[in-house]
Amino acid sequence: MPVTPALDIQQDVALTTYNTLALASRAEYFCRVTTTELLREALGWARNKRLSVTCLGGGSNVVLAGDLKGLVLVIDIGGLQVVDHNDGTVQVSIGAGNNWDETVRHCLARGWYGLENLALIPGKAGAAPIQNIGAYGVELSELLRAVRAVEIDTGEILTLANADCSFGYRDSIFKGSLENRVAITEITLDLTTTPHLRLDYPALAREIGGLSSPLTAELVYEAVCSIRRRKLPDPAVLPNVGSFFKNPLVGHDVAAALLVEHPELVCFPQDDGRVKLAAGWLLEHAGWKGRRSGGVGVHMDQALVLVNYGGGSAQQILALATEIRADIQKRFGVNLELEPKILGL
Ligand code: EPU
Repeated sequence: MPVTPALDIQQDVALTTYNTLALASRAEYFCRVTTTELLREALGWARNKRLSVTCLGGGSNVVLAGDLKGLVLVIDIGGLQVVDHNDGTVQVSIGAGNNWDETVRHCLARGWYGLENLALIPGKAGAAPIQNIGAYGVELSELLRAVRAVEIDTGEILTLANADCSFGYRDSIFKGSLENRVAITEITLDLTTTPHLRLDYPALAREIGGLSSPLTAELVYEAVCSIRRRKLPDPAVLPNVGSFFKNPLVGHDVAAALLVEHPELVCFPQDDGRVKLAAGWLLEHAGWKGRRSGGVGVHMDQALVLVNYGGGSAQQILALATEIRADIQKRFGVNLELEPKILGL
């Protein structure tokens, strides 16, 4: 007879290995759930005790600024299956607990294409829609069909279609009106069975241009991995949460004025008339690249990434981010928004 896993709620658990900045923080109560049923049971338990609930995925986009009160849930729901396929398309449902990059590789190996530009992004599948992960010219929202989630307050199971998710650049309803209100259990993607390669991102086009092999989705995956490995520190080696700031979207006139003063400014005009500025460029040209402050600092190869060199605290990371934001505002008149979510303040 199959054994039903039991709810295992622990008290006062260290979260250092559950956040990729490796910050010291503790959960008042902690539970890893591997099924939707266990998740609903855990939510019921927290509701009875009137405890707040925090969901953690891979901890690769959070700053744990203090200890977390209430119940911290790590969603480890697995499973990956084809739910439908048609001429040239395949619908794949992916449990929230699947490691993102393993999912990308798994799909690629089966000839399900579309995820190759999103190679090597740390974290789990369930967190991907929250910040609408994007890289090298592709955003998850272009491939996502639906999200399944459990409402924290009621235990009710919800299904959101793509149009319900209010996706934007590094943004979604899960950072807006549904923030802290749902636990994502599964995502469904629309992939294709013939590759439609997306090579328009300048750094990717340059990387691919230098290769002599015939273009395949596997090659694009490898090219993205090579760029990322060169520029972005592996959180397992040098703790970080990827980009610490979003690339700011400014009006066309603001970008035009900045370009007069800084003709080499890197910017990308958007469909809505606004212009996305490369925050990394702003930081580098303000002299932040490679700067250290106590146990933390700005990465040497990609200025958007703040790193913990060892023993750094959340307070040091947040103080550095505040100093950087003030400096960028003063020099360029541009407001930088933080990308990761700050928990435990
Ligand atoms: N740049 C600099 N100096 C730097 C960093 C960047 O001059 O220190 C310039 C680059 O030379 C390039 C431009 O800025 O001309 C863009 O740089 P890059 O291609 O490295 O990308 P990014 O805009 O800095 C964004 C995402 C990354 C994603 C890459 C590739 C955000 C906040 N970040 O970074 O996502 O991997 O594009 O698509 O949108 C993440 O979200 O954690 C993340 C790593």
